[in-house]
Amino acid sequence: MRILSVLLVFLVGCSSKKPEGLRTVELLPGHTRAQHEATSQGVMITSQGTVSSQAGLEMFRQGGNIIDAAVAVSFAISVERPQSTGIGGGGFLIFYEKKTGKSYVWDFREIAPLKGHAKMFLKADGTPDPEKSIYGPFAVAVPGIVRGLWEIHKRWGKLPWAATVQPAIRLAEEGLPVYPHLVDAIKYESPRLKADPDAAKIFFMPDGSIPPVGHILKQADLGKTLRIIAKQGVRGFYEGSVAKNIVHTVRTNGGIMTAQDLQGYRAKERAAIEGSYHGFKIISMPPPSSGGTHVVQILNLLEQQNLSQWGPQHPETVHRIATAMQISFADRAKYMGDPDFSPIPSTELSSKSYAQAMQKYFGPKARPSKDFPLPAIPDDKTETTHFTLADSEENIVVSTQTINGWFGSGLVARGTGIVLNNEMDDFAQAVGASNLFGAIGGDKNLVAPKKRPLSSMSPTLVLKDGKPFLALGTPSGTRIISCVAQTMLNVLEFRLPLYDAVAATRVHHQWMPEELRIEKPFLPSAAFKDLEGRGHTVKRQALGCQIQAIQRVGNRWVGVSDPRGEGLAIGE
Ligand code: DON
Repeated sequence: MRILSVLLVFLVGCSSKKPEGLRTVELLPGHTRAQHEATSQGVMITSQGTVSSQAGLEMFRQGGNIIDAAVAVSFAISVERPQSTGIGGGGFLIFYEKKTGKSYVWDFREIAPLKGHAKMFLKADGTPDPEKSIYGPFAVAVPGIVRGLWEIHKRWGKLPWAATVQPAIRLAEEGLPVYPHLVDAIKYESPRLKADPDAAKIFFMPDGSIPPVGHILKQADLGKTLRIIAKQGVRGFYEGSVAKNIVHTVRTNGGIMTAQDLQGYRAKERAAIEGSYHGFKIISMPPPSSGGTHVVQILNLLEQQNLSQWGPQHPETVHRIATAMQISFADRAKYMGDPDFSPIPSTELSSKSYAQAMQKYFGPKARPSKDFPLPAIPDDKTETTHFTLADSEENIVVSTQTINGWFGSGLVARGTGIVLNNEMDDFAQAVGASNLFGAIGGDKNLVAPKKRPLSSMSPTLVLKDGKPFLALGTPSGTRIISCVAQTMLNVLEFRLPLYDAVAATRVHHQWMPEELRIEKPFLPSAAFKDLEGRGHTVKRQALGCQIQAIQRVGNRWVGVSDPRGEGLAIGE
């Protein structure tokens, strides 16, 4: 029935009649709204982990505020998704405070060690060595999550710091049932995890086999580390035995991180990227993430395209979305990096006038990128994590956190249970080289001491008439930008209910490689033909995004945890 109505939208669109009401979209099959949506007039939490969402709720029940809940979710998800994120990684968080109407933007992205330099990922022959930035000791950047959470909690938290770490300690010590995605990640990274004694001890059965779904995975060392952090605060991570063990593991494997790197790490407060879409105000993540800039840029470019005349899954719409993505990702490769090291034109790129000037790139055919090398784009592994929180006072927290690839560098710091990130791969190994996500890097994103690698993470908030209306984010590398922008379009342009906006087919084009990825539930075959006819190389491939979103509907919150994942939307 759904397929029929989409086809109808397509055919009717082709004959350029645009009847209102024919806006049914193909949704991810095998899932129901009831499984992934919650509503509440009080608090709402959507995260990629069931126990982690409940950890947030526990803070509210103890009389804590939205910041206590955000800190608790962050620590808990470190334990629940050790393949995706953790205290050995970094991230970004935006806190919208209702009473002041201000958005506080926190950057606790990892930094390059002091001994890092622009040529550190080149082989002797001068060509990039991707293995070196993805696996092992050189891949590890100085972690930022604990410092970030500490600063945020110090400023706004209500419950004692130790209380916010408690649910994570419990989860690490009592264990969690292994779920399919964790099994897949352990399987895929087996050779690397087995080569590291600490990782091998934690993530495999005593006989060396992969833990089955349902097995209770305990992370005793991580529990001990969390107890130290609960007691000693930020110093428990960046100084003392934990810091010593992190440095020991990196150094004995041949890497360059030092105690000074850890001691010197600082989180930063930054000014949000702001934009608008047909009167809705957008607040998102500035550099060193490229996310906010390009989410706003894509929406600016499309604001003038009047997409609702075709509907969300019509090939005219998809082609225009792809064009906006191509333009934005070409700019990402050229202009983006850490703003503390070189000026980044994020304000210009996210301006209406720039979007106006770039309208000339929209035409009936795909814009070719054939003059450029085509880097291989990896598959749809989902790492990283995102959560979104709202409370009864209409405060909002959106945060995306990561260790980058599955199990980061594959190293676990001796005796701590901390999986060390491989965020160094988000730097450009050389100008024009591509990373784990096929993203091309420019000179602004070369390694330098204390520099932050360019990110795509896009925690984003939308205000309507000055009030929180939509808040969202997702994991999945460069695809984050595309998935966030499209979910926003689905709500702001096509007025889809939040569940449909999240569960609908998504597409992704990152300029290079020159391909348009379309994921399940795909599009009618006539739409594929149409897009190919315009010159797009269309691939049916998952994108790996797992949007965690909250929308204000009347006087309630509606929370949706992407049906593509194992997260939970929970309200009270
Ligand atoms: O910061 C970034 O953009 C990446 N390190 C995020 C990694 C990610 O989302 C992994 N998921 N596939």
